[in-house]
Amino acid sequence: MFSSRLPSRLESNALSQALALLRTSGVVPADLTVTNPTRVGLSYPADILSSLSSAGGLVYDPAPFGLTVAREAVAHTLSSGTVQVDSGRVVLTASTSEAYGLIFKLLCDPGDAVLVPQPSYPLLELLTGLDAVVSSGYLLENHGVWSIDRESVSAACGERTRAVLVVSPNNPTGSMLRRADREWLVAFALERRLAIISDEVFSDFPVAPGPDAVSLLGESRVLTFTLGGLSKSAGLPQLKLGWVVVSGPETVVGEALGRLEMICDTYLSVATPVQVALPQLLAAGAEVREAIRARLRENYRALTLAASAHPAVRVIPPEGGWSVVVQVPETLGEEALVSQLLHEAHVVVHPGYFFDFDRGTHIVMSLLPEPGLFASSVSKVLALAAGQ
Ligand SMILES: Cc1ncc(COP(=O)(O)O)c(C=O)c1O
Repeated sequence: MFSSRLPSRLESNALSQALALLRTSGVVPADLTVTNPTRVGLSYPADILSSLSSAGGLVYDPAPFGLTVAREAVAHTLSSGTVQVDSGRVVLTASTSEAYGLIFKLLCDPGDAVLVPQPSYPLLELLTGLDAVVSSGYLLENHGVWSIDRESVSAACGERTRAVLVVSPNNPTGSMLRRADREWLVAFALERRLAIISDEVFSDFPVAPGPDAVSLLGESRVLTFTLGGLSKSAGLPQLKLGWVVVSGPETVVGEALGRLEMICDTYLSVATPVQVALPQLLAAGAEVREAIRARLRENYRALTLAASAHPAVRVIPPEGGWSVVVQVPETLGEEALVSQLLHEAHVVVHPGYFFDFDRGTHIVMSLLPEPGLFASSVSKVLALAAGQ
């Protein structure tokens, strides 16, 4: 009766079930997986939402790509000394997740494929599935620094592949696209007639980017979609506003925008008040971004300090983003370790397999939690993971 786009089994995973059970028994575990910036004790400017009540929000003036004032605000914010973003190539969406769906509809027929990095953000599997698109994994490899395993990209690319997806900074590895990989990927995409989708939602949160870390914003040689949004850039996921910047050779960009306009016009999903308020929200968001950056730095410092007492665990340094990966001894295995952490230390972390790590034993933590809770929980996590 139901579509195969959805998983046949809907029950939650073993970790979520164990967590729910623990909560019903009155235990409130420390959650080191939290990525909701509105729930981690960050202070937001008191009037940050006041621009939402502007009278302009009372007028409905449907525009498939969004209101000019909002598109111009995004273009202005993203433009820098190296890239000038044209507001005519900015498409507003209700979120980055929705942006993926629009782009898949633009590029793919049911059964077509996109190349997806591994390890990466688990929602990508669902997002592709919901558009009847196949996600074919390619590997990110870590030799002290992360890079794209080019052979795995070639191997995963088939007749029906339509796009290659890059997440930079990546969730959860924190890795960023290297200049040499970008050049290779552009040449590969041109040769195989692929578009590039570059998820750069965490680009405002560099932790320690390598000198050769690059963006795909404004890439002019191949059809490229660069994604971002308020959920990360201003720490306001509840406002539901994301964006796509379309770039590439003029002709193909024009064709893509024409089709994308039809898709966006079908949904018109972005609310008017948030668009009218966008210039003010982006400006006020600078303070939130700074608070998040300070939080990431503080928690990362606490983690590396705690890890220095445990040579058996290895913190994989993130170049950017909100997460961190820790490689731990293989003694227990990820599932058993995460379960033990939950039941004995009352701390929730993610196992590496949630993010498709192909080898080694890893746990993944968010760097967003409240610092006191993060520091005390991380000590327990590392001691248990190191077998002490
Ligand atoms: C890499 C990545 N892309 C996209 C998203 C979704 O962002 P949005 O809230 O704009 O849908 C997330 C959410 O955590 C993410 O980690």
